[in-house]
Amino acid sequence: MTAASFFHRQMPTTFPHEFDRRAAQYEQHAPVQREAAAWLAEWLPEKIESPALEVGAGTGFFTRHLTGRTERLVASDISPRMAQAGRQAVPDVGWIVADATNPPEDGGYHWIFNCSLVQWLPDPAAAFRAWHHAAAPGARLVSGWFLRGTMDEFFSACPEAAPFVWRDADEWKDLLAQSGWTIRRDEAKSFVRHHTDSVAMLREVHNAGAVIPRRIGIGKLRQALRKYDRDHRSEAGVRSTFNFLRVEAVRS
Ligand SMILES: C[S@@+](CC[C@H](N)C(=O)[O-])C[C@H]1O[C@@H](n2cnc3c(N)ncnc32)[C@H](O)[C@@H]1O
Repeated sequence: MTAASFFHRQMPTTFPHEFDRRAAQYEQHAPVQREAAAWLAEWLPEKIESPALEVGAGTGFFTRHLTGRTERLVASDISPRMAQAGRQAVPDVGWIVADATNPPEDGGYHWIFNCSLVQWLPDPAAAFRAWHHAAAPGARLVSGWFLRGTMDEFFSACPEAAPFVWRDADEWKDLLAQSGWTIRRDEAKSFVRHHTDSVAMLREVHNAGAVIPRRIGIGKLRQALRKYDRDHRSEAGVRSTFNFLRVEAVRS
């Protein structure tokens, strides 16, 4: 693959999150995303018709579940370093750098996939419409992402640290339906992690790149972390909850 084809449409590669900077260490610090990818993969069929497209593929946690089921898969991510790490980890797939809201349109894709991406999109409805446009009639979308309530132990004490607008399952399903997708099935699940303390929890999230840097006063942050440690500690450590929605939809 040439450099030009790795970079879809010579797109500008600027984004507010830290995934690109942390690409080399993402997998080490993203146990919840790894688990979520395995849970979403339970809904994959044995055989996936080509061509298929994965957006926001990162380093390939979910991509690994797709290989062997499809002959022609394009895996894409907005971050060149995440896509490069994905290409090294899952080389038998065609990797490109592309914004999920501006995917290659020439595909007539029969399947579109993404995992742990959607909550990061500034305009998710535009992305849902773009996928509808890139998909063949009757195509399937298999997608999973994090819901409101995720890391609420921290964000309830420090809402200004939230990297994006959180939505609940019904809000998300409305957005999908308005964008031309008919939901076949959906299910939510909570993943729970325990850490030695709230600082260790935040460090893990930062090391995975799952942050948009915010200016938060140090006093305010310390206060929020103290409250977190006080209110959510058990013998197992301090708890953090991640609410995840998986959806299978068909292009209407
Ligand atoms: C939490 S990671 C998930 C990666 C992978 N799908 C997984 O399951 O581990 C989110 C990924 O979405 C990518 N991303 C964020 N915004 C994007 C956008 N607008 N277009 C494409 N990818 C995007 C990030 O670069 C990052 O690789």
